[in-house]
Amino acid sequence: MKLEALPVVKGDHNLSSYEDVYTSFNWEEAEKNFTWYETGKLNAAYEAIDRHAETFRKNKIALYYRDSKRQEKYTYKEMKELSNKAANVIKNTANVEKGDRLFVFMPRTPELYFIVLGAVKLGAIVGPLFEAFMEGAVKDRLEDSEARVIVTTPELVNRIPVDELPHLEHIIIVGEDVDTEKHIDFLSEMETASKELDIVWVEKTDGLLLHYTSGSTGKPKGVLHIHQAMIQHYQTAKWVLDIKEDDVYWCTADPGWVTGTVYGIFGPWLTGSTNVIVGGRFSPESWYQTIEDYGVTVWYSAPTAFRMLMGAGDDLVNQYDLSSLRHVLSVGEPLNPEVVRWGAKVFNKRIHDTWWMTETGAQLICNYPSMEIKPGSMGKPIPGVQAAIVDEKGQELPPYRMGNLAIKKGWPSMMHTIWNNQEKYDSYFMPGEWYVSGDSAYMDEDGYFWFQGRVDDVIMTSGERVGPFEVESKLIEHPAIAEAGVIGKPDPVRGEIIKAFVALREGYEATDELKEEIRLFVKEGLAAHAAPREIEFRDKLPKTRSGKIMRRVLKAWELDLPTGDLSTMED
Ligand code: PRX
Repeated sequence: MKLEALPVVKGDHNLSSYEDVYTSFNWEEAEKNFTWYETGKLNAAYEAIDRHAETFRKNKIALYYRDSKRQEKYTYKEMKELSNKAANVIKNTANVEKGDRLFVFMPRTPELYFIVLGAVKLGAIVGPLFEAFMEGAVKDRLEDSEARVIVTTPELVNRIPVDELPHLEHIIIVGEDVDTEKHIDFLSEMETASKELDIVWVEKTDGLLLHYTSGSTGKPKGVLHIHQAMIQHYQTAKWVLDIKEDDVYWCTADPGWVTGTVYGIFGPWLTGSTNVIVGGRFSPESWYQTIEDYGVTVWYSAPTAFRMLMGAGDDLVNQYDLSSLRHVLSVGEPLNPEVVRWGAKVFNKRIHDTWWMTETGAQLICNYPSMEIKPGSMGKPIPGVQAAIVDEKGQELPPYRMGNLAIKKGWPSMMHTIWNNQEKYDSYFMPGEWYVSGDSAYMDEDGYFWFQGRVDDVIMTSGERVGPFEVESKLIEHPAIAEAGVIGKPDPVRGEIIKAFVALREGYEATDELKEEIRLFVKEGLAAHAAPREIEFRDKLPKTRSGKIMRRVLKAWELDLPTGDLSTMED
């Protein structure tokens, strides 16, 4: 069923007229919003925090933090001082310098944010890791990036395989009872660290963030973002998040995911807004309570979360006062029209879908407050960005033709490189300067883009991108498993779940206990979100003659779809 478009909400929006701005805008204009445009001294953490601490925003709340144990707030001035202190700690104890890769492997707490900002102030490149990562996932990322320093907690430190990481020199621990023979005690060092810091000024093209993400083949790859990306972080926070001076903004994403750094750190703070950060696990009650308690006005979350809230029922949502909400947004997976309709009912707000990728570094295709929303569509490209649907040769396709969603090269937040992998980086581009996303989509006659699926086998489960190859590689490390093929299976709440097809080695019996053991094996070796929710035993798996598991055939079997061309299949 096609839903009626949701009309424009009249009001004072930062992007008041999409068409006018789209035709006249160029990125140079956006640069004028930064102090470095005048001074020539550039650092994204300075622009995000220190700049505001030197203005009327000095005593404005920059951060509200809460989890089940802590409830704190920090002004811009305090954020400046605390990130300076954190910078001094990591500089003095671990000698962190410009260009060093420093990883953060810890849950969301205020200290995580002081450290990220502090490291950026030193010109270091920050690599954020999900706390759910187990040893194998941590090792792959630290090894590939040759990280020198990692910051973690007493609970997580044992998952860092130090003996296998020759480049790793220092482990900094945020927590109590740190063994200072082996590790650096962050909290004690903070007590005596200086509040003064000489910021390291960098070039626009110097590294800022290194986010590892999954593709359909190979190990996770390191997507490098540079300081110049802040231009687009800022501009999209203005246009798309529509952040204004009095807003209280909450992005629910963890910084292990690019949304949690770009729109959990840089976007909101570059615009000088009050940023809410919530640690701990998802719970509908605490989420609604957060909106009510802080009076959240702009809220950025993801379809899986909205679907879980929807599942928790309307009675629950009606127990809270959510009337502060002004603007609600979503990212990461297709936003079902059903969810948009539900949002309109319970929040009395349209949920605005936004599309982008780790590689694109910031939002690219979006629904704006000043624009009609067609439920189910990702929206239109932001001003300064040209999007199209292209075929295998990079030729632009007309409206309603399905193809690969592509973006014309040259937006400020585009990835700078794939770490140590020029070939992979090059593989993203097609003739005509197109960056090719790997998402299949079409465009309608009004220029709205509609997501259809992934061109490759990448799985999106609860908004997390999981490479089937990584899971398959882990599975076949299990002694009982001879072969494994992994697919994403559609799921009403999580978007997709991971399903593994497994052929056992001689002598192993296909039992439910073994399934459970295998699930645990992946969970403990890789990450909880990468563990297959469903496992099916098969005598053998469909393979090409060259031995590659044919995931598309597995998927067709699973979903009762035609298997298509089987000419390359063995037997
Ligand atoms: O398939 C698209 C999906 O998420 C992919 C990017 O994943 P990741 O790099 O982990 O996300 C980073 C932050 C967005 C895309 O290739 N995706 C993202 N946004 C949407 C989406 N699919 C449908 N609709 C969206 N709005």
